[in-house]
Amino acid sequence: MTDVVVRVAQEDEWEAAGRITVAAYLDDRYIDSHEGGYADQLGDGARRAEEAELLVAVDEGNTLLGTVTVVRPGTPWSEVSRPGELEFRMLAVDSAARGRGVGEALVHAVIARARELGAERVVMSSSEAMASAHRLYGRLGFQRIPERDWRPVPEVKLMAFAFSLDL
Ligand SMILES: CC(C)(COP(=O)(O)OP(=O)(O)OC[C@H]1O[C@@H](n2cnc3c(N)ncnc32)[C@H](O)[C@@H]1OP(=O)(O)O)[C@@H](O)C(=O)NCCC(=O)NCCS
Repeated sequence: MTDVVVRVAQEDEWEAAGRITVAAYLDDRYIDSHEGGYADQLGDGARRAEEAELLVAVDEGNTLLGTVTVVRPGTPWSEVSRPGELEFRMLAVDSAARGRGVGEALVHAVIARARELGAERVVMSSSEAMASAHRLYGRLGFQRIPERDWRPVPEVKLMAFAFSLDL
């Protein structure tokens, strides 16, 4: 899409990016409260900007539409990435802006960042319930890597996906 730009979040956008992330997960019932537990991590855009790379998607009026966090292996927010890979986490698009390619633009930006950094693969993990995200990853050429599936807590299984840059 032409009217969406993905770029690094400016400091005055960190908090709003956190709020969009929490709202997106709440709207789809992936969390059940806007605070406490995982919601506090989702809401902490500032910490992700400082310890990883916080990207935002904005429209031509600079309204925040979505966000994603880009993570290098071995750093505080990494979960499944290994050396030579780039990971992303907490992809989220405002409910009102969905279905027009914002999520796709954010994932494309992660892939572009991986190319820039010379990474071989983009990897991530996502809960079994996130069907809309899984369709997006499949459409963009991500493949399942079940050997990297893991459980942050016994009742939650996270499915791992990878996109190879040499494809
Ligand atoms: C998953 C998520 C990021 C997708 O965001 P999005 O901006 O709606 O994604 P896209 O617009 O690129 O794709 C969504 C749908 O719109 C369709 N679409 C994209 N551009 C379109 C356009 N210009 N016209 C019509 N449809 C379009 C896509 O084909 C896709 O269809 P599908 O749902 O049938 O597969 C969003 O739903 C979200 O924030 N979910 C909650 C959080 C979450 O699950 N995060 C994943 C964490 S790992």
